[in-house]
Amino acid sequence: MSNTLSIDGARLWNSLMELGEIGGTEKGGSRRLALTELDHQGRELVCGWMRDAGLTISFDRMGNIFGRRPGRDNSLAPVMTGSHIDTQPSGGKFDGCYGVLAGLEVMRVLKDHAIVTTAPLELAIWTNEEGVRFVPTMMGSGVFSKSIPLDHALAATDANGLTVGDEVKARGFFGDEEPGQHPVGSYYEVHIEQGPVLEANENTIGVVTGVLGQRLMNITVTGQEAHAGPTPMAIRKDALQHSLPLMTEILALGRSHGDSGRATIGQVAVLPGARNTIPGLVKFSVDLRNLDRTVLEEMANKAKMAAAAAQERTGLTFEVDDLQTITPTVFHYANVEMVDAACKSRGYSHQRIVSGAGHDACFISRIAPTSMIFVPCKDGISHNEIEDAAPTDLEAGANVLLDVLLRASA
Ligand code: GLV
Ligand code: MN
Ligand code: MN
Repeated sequence: MSNTLSIDGARLWNSLMELGEIGGTEKGGSRRLALTELDHQGRELVCGWMRDAGLTISFDRMGNIFGRRPGRDNSLAPVMTGSHIDTQPSGGKFDGCYGVLAGLEVMRVLKDHAIVTTAPLELAIWTNEEGVRFVPTMMGSGVFSKSIPLDHALAATDANGLTVGDEVKARGFFGDEEPGQHPVGSYYEVHIEQGPVLEANENTIGVVTGVLGQRLMNITVTGQEAHAGPTPMAIRKDALQHSLPLMTEILALGRSHGDSGRATIGQVAVLPGARNTIPGLVKFSVDLRNLDRTVLEEMANKAKMAAAAAQERTGLTFEVDDLQTITPTVFHYANVEMVDAACKSRGYSHQRIVSGAGHDACFISRIAPTSMIFVPCKDGISHNEIEDAAPTDLEAGANVLLDVLLRASA
C-alpha cells in the first residue's frame, strides 16, 4: 500500500464547516431533518461538490444519491463509500457528514492526481439515516439492501402526515433507479465514534468489527383525562403516573444485560398537555440495543412483559408497537483486516472497536463485504450540537479511507 498520496485535511474541514452552516444552530451544530428544505439545500451543496470532483450523479427511488467515478474496468462492481447528511434535531456537524465529505475528499484527491482505479468508485448519500422525522431509521440503506420494503419506506409519515414518497419527489430526488439495482463490490464507511472509547485510550482510529443490534418500539398508555383538582389521587387513571414505573423498569434493562446492553427513552408525549388536566394518553419511544442477538430479544421480551404486567396491575391500556428490528452486525473479516493494515502502514494508533450507534454500513453489510473506520470525537459526545472532532483525527480517518478504497479498487 502506498502512503505517498494523502487527503487535504484543510479542504475536508472547510467543507464540513460549510455544510454545517446549513441549518446551523446556536451552539455550533446543525439541524437538517431528513427530506426537509434544509436537507435539500445540504444535498444540493454536496451534489455540486461531487460534480466538481468529476463524479456522475444519479438517484434511486428512495432519494439515495450516488456519485460515480469510472475505473479502467467499468464492468466491475464499484467500490463504495458513503454515509448520511441528515441530522438529529439538535445534531452536530460531523455525524454522517464526515463520512460523506471524507469520501468526497478522497474523490477530489484522486482527481487532483489524475489517478484511475481499476474498479469504479462510488460515493453514496443515504436518505434518512437518523430516523427522526421518519421511521424506520437507516431508511435509504435499508431499502437499498432490501432489508426494508420500498413501499413501506415511501409510505412512512412525519408528525404532520407528510410521506417520505411525497417529500423525496418534492425535493427532486426521486430517481428512475430501483433501489439496490446496481451491485456493490465492497463498502467502507468512515464516521466519528460517537462514544468515549478512542479518546480514553488515546487512539486515533477505531477499526470497527461490528455494531450493536437494535429493537425500536413505541408504547402507548391510555388512561382517562380528568380535572387535576377535584379528582383524588387514588381513583385517577393517570397515564403518566402509571407510565413512570414501566419506564424505569425498561431503562433498567440496559444495565442488566451485559456490557453492550443499552435502553433509551428519547421521546415522550404527554396528552392533552395541560397543566390542570390529568394526562389521558402517554406515548413513548423505546430504543433497546445489544451486541448479542439472543440477549437483545430477551430485552425486548422483558419490555413487552413489563408492559403487559403494568396493564394487568393498573387497568389502563398499554399497547406496544414494534417499529424496527436491526440484528447485530459483524463486519467482514477481510475488510476489517484491510482497515487494520492501513492504520499500521500509516503509523496511526488504533484499536478494534464495536459501534454502539447504528450506521448505513449495517444494512450495506448484508449485500456486500463491509467495514467501518472510526475517529474520536470530543468527550465522546454526539447527537448534540456541541459534537466536535480534531481536524488531525478527521484527516487521519480520511487517509485510512483513501488507502482502503485504493486497495479495494486496485
Ligand atoms: C443512529 O444514529 C442510531 O444509532 O440511532
Ligand atoms: Mn451517523
Ligand atoms: Mn446519528
